[in-house]
Amino acid sequence: MSRTIFSFAALAIAVASMLPAADADPEKGNEVFDEQCAQCHHAYKDEKKAGPSLKWLFSRDKLESNGKPVSDGSVLEMVEKGGRGMPAFKGTLSEEDKADLLAYLKTI
Ligand code: HEC
Repeated sequence: MSRTIFSFAALAIAVASMLPAADADPEKGNEVFDEQCAQCHHAYKDEKKAGPSLKWLFSRDKLESNGKPVSDGSVLEMVEKGGRGMPAFKGTLSEEDKADLLAYLKTI
């Protein structure tokens, strides 16, 4: 019996750690964006800076830069690896920062 309880607890912890996005905070994501991304990307107007505007990013079908369908995965890939003229943020942003950032990008 106690073993069953133990495995449920272990399962709950495993599931919780697989879902960091569940408690992602768009307001923190906004801060990350202002610090790391805003110098090259507009969030509120559809106008190019150094990089394409990210306004309505998640309402679009495809990324402007590489034509990939817009999804958590393709946006994260861009952020982690960078692009032509965009630095890679793989070592700069924590998993939490990235989850918060995605949550924020979905609000603009
Ligand atoms: C030094 C300028 C610069 C910074 C800083 C920067 N980007 Fe970019 N970003 C670019 C450029 C330039 C492109 C176009 C890349 C290409 O065409 O390959 C781009 C492309 C993108 C794209 C793809 C958009 C599309 O429609 O194709 C996303 C998403 C993106 N950036 C998100 C971010 C996020 C999030 C941050 C902050 C963590 C960030 N960028 C920081 C310059 C920048």
